Amino acid sequence: MTERTLAIIKPDAVAKGVAGQILSRIERAGFTILAARLTRLSREQAGGFYAVHRERPFYASLCAFMTEGPCLVLVLEGDDAIRRWRDLMGATDPAQAAPGTIRRDFASSIEANAVHGSDSPASAAFEIPYFFSALDLCPR
Ligand code: CMP
Repeated sequence: MTERTLAIIKPDAVAKGVAGQILSRIERAGFTILAARLTRLSREQAGGFYAVHRERPFYASLCAFMTEGPCLVLVLEGDDAIRRWRDLMGATDPAQAAPGTIRRDFASSIEANAVHGSDSPASAAFEIPYFFSALDLCPR
């Protein structure tokens, strides 16, 4: 089934200069990029995006990390896109991520883990409009 998912190339990956390599993996995997924006999140924007984690001990640190520099926010489309993007990313903790995954190759830590992806259709339905209006998306 064709799905849409929100992807973020996080501030650590943009700062390292590997955003292009990650985009290349996205394209090689056959995703269609419907929208993309380089943006530096405010504390409020990061906090709202990760509100589901607000009771977690790492919430404040995660929100600070996400504001450290620009990130590249994307909407990806494709067959089974939510699961396939998560497979390409690898496990949250790069030490647990499989060889060849983005996090294994580019993440620095469980927090500075290079990329984000929606974890379910319900998450995608919240996360995509958090950053993009319908008019921002370029279907083909
Ligand atoms: P992401 O997939 O964007 O979803 C939530 C984020 O919280 C996760 O990637 C990590 O950046 C961060 N995170 C998850 N678990 C931890 C943890 N144990 N310690 C610090 N950060 C974490």
